[in-house]
Amino acid sequence: MRIDIVSLFPEFVTQVAGHGVVGRAQERGLLALHGWNPRDHAEGNYRRVDDRPFGGGPGMVMLIDPLRACLAAARAADPAPAKVIYLSPQGMPLTQAKVRELAGEPRFILLCGRYEGIDERLVAAEVDEELSIGDYVLSGGELAAAVVVDAVARLQEGALNDAESAAQDSFAADGLLDCPHYTRPVEHELGTVPEVLMSGNHAGIARWRRQQALGRTWQRRPELLDEAALSAADRKLLEAFKAENP
Ligand code: ADE
Repeated sequence: MRIDIVSLFPEFVTQVAGHGVVGRAQERGLLALHGWNPRDHAEGNYRRVDDRPFGGGPGMVMLIDPLRACLAAARAADPAPAKVIYLSPQGMPLTQAKVRELAGEPRFILLCGRYEGIDERLVAAEVDEELSIGDYVLSGGELAAAVVVDAVARLQEGALNDAESAAQDSFAADGLLDCPHYTRPVEHELGTVPEVLMSGNHAGIARWRRQQALGRTWQRRPELLDEAALSAADRKLLEAFKAENP
């Protein structure tokens, strides 16, 4: 898949994405990232990309024309149609369901704002979707874009090795948090690994993990349980967890 990043600091996103799983996805040809800078499409000696807001107030607003020309260049670089996604705190919250949807697209364009934002007319004319990575304000959309790139890249077929399988992630299929994980040593001054995990009883291990996932979700994010489709067996496991962890 192809992701184009329109930003005053495109290298910020492409550099973050050069490491780990995302870097490997690029090396494996599963993901192509392309950065585009609106400053390269700005006019005049100063290559101005922003101006003061009408109505007054602090900060600067990104100009329509450099962004528009930049988006046009990004679109034209590949024949496949591309949605434009603007990262902003006013967007819909990014969820794993959204990540899965984006991961299935052949390409999309991430638009990063800086300063106070982008002229609303550009947003109205060019943006297909607005996404937020949480209810807090970043100084620009670049970190949010890097989050989207990472989450989408690791779902590309072949990006993860078997051992890193995405199937068991938090939110993977059923919207529950992940269970806890342990490795060697079994005995440590910080505690002992739960016995069931060393039992070799695969059904018992699966049941324990499911119960922990249900219990953690109940303890930490109970609202997620409203959306999760729990079986009768799940409800029993959760009731038992609640009884043990009042
Ligand atoms: N830009 C600034 N803050 C943001 C946020 N919370 N999510 C996405 N983009 C942003």
